[in-house]
Amino acid sequence: MTAPVLETENLVKIYGRGETRFDALKGVNLQINEGESVAVVGKSGSGKSTLMHLLALLDAPTHGVVALKGQPTNNLDAKQLNELRNSAFGFVFQQFFLTPNQTVLENVTLPLKIAGVHSAERKRRGMEALEQLEMADKASNRATDLSGGQKQRVVIARALINEPSVIFADEPTGNLDTATSDVVEDILFGLNKDKGITLVVVTHDPDLASRCSRQIYLVDGEIDRSASPAAASSLFADRSQSRQGEQGQVTVKEPATGQLIALSEADAAEIAEAARRPHRAGRHAAPWAQSTTPDQQGVSE
Ligand SMILES: Nc1ncnc2c1ncn2[C@@H]1O[C@H](COP(=O)(O)OP(=O)(O)OP(=O)(O)O)[C@@H](O)[C@H]1O
Ligand SMILES: [Mg+2]
Repeated sequence: MTAPVLETENLVKIYGRGETRFDALKGVNLQINEGESVAVVGKSGSGKSTLMHLLALLDAPTHGVVALKGQPTNNLDAKQLNELRNSAFGFVFQQFFLTPNQTVLENVTLPLKIAGVHSAERKRRGMEALEQLEMADKASNRATDLSGGQKQRVVIARALINEPSVIFADEPTGNLDTATSDVVEDILFGLNKDKGITLVVVTHDPDLASRCSRQIYLVDGEIDRSASPAAASSLFADRSQSRQGEQGQVTVKEPATGQLIALSEADAAEIAEAARRPHRAGRHAAPWAQSTTPDQQGVSE
């Protein structure tokens, strides 16, 4: 059996000290297997982005270990971490973090530049990724001269360029309208299904969370095991008491928030199926690699 692609042991993150000390993660243990799509959900401030930052090696835990493909990462130096992040991970965040004055192609190929790939090869692979996202005709545009949905497709092309094992997405559709969100979600789940790229998605959107094969519920910096995956099964159990919505839809209670949400029959069945499987246990900063702080130059619209 292969090692989980990501695994944590007793992950603790404490911000500040003394009176300003805040325990954002209080001992998180989880495993994410290759090819899974995992939604990290929970109220604002529950620690979702903190957890994603740690999993993505963008920040170091106060205590505990993150292992990537069975290898603990706590002893790696900054250069090794940068290289690992750049080669193994892709990032798709709400704020896009595109460099405004560079072209679409330059933005997409930045991870290859960091990896030292020469210019002709960068261009070839960059155009290939843009073609996949149907953005090749915008390769020479400045990143600012795009719609929100187009920017997010460029971000996905950049996330793909290094053939990552894992794509981390923090509110990837937070700035997009419904129709554009659907397109972006379809692209992400298509990559998960067709290329086996593991997805870790932080979201407040119940529809997006329910499309993932598993949900991790965070409550005050801890995983709520009673809500995960039992949450999914209670979600399904609630169907019998649910209000009948539109044809083919069921309205169920979202366990973490108690909110009523509409699910298609197919999604509800999928969640129930995921809940029956044995439990295999299961952030924003400079996305694609380098530093631990977001690119302040980033295009934030
Ligand atoms: N750099 C920091 N210094 C101090 N406290 C921080 C820092 N970053 C986050 N926190 C605190 O840690 C907690 C978890 O923050 P985090 O950003 O992980 O929440 P979240 O679940 O992603 O919330 P949201 O849904 O609003 O994005 C919050 O209470 C936040 O105020
Ligand atoms: Mg957050």
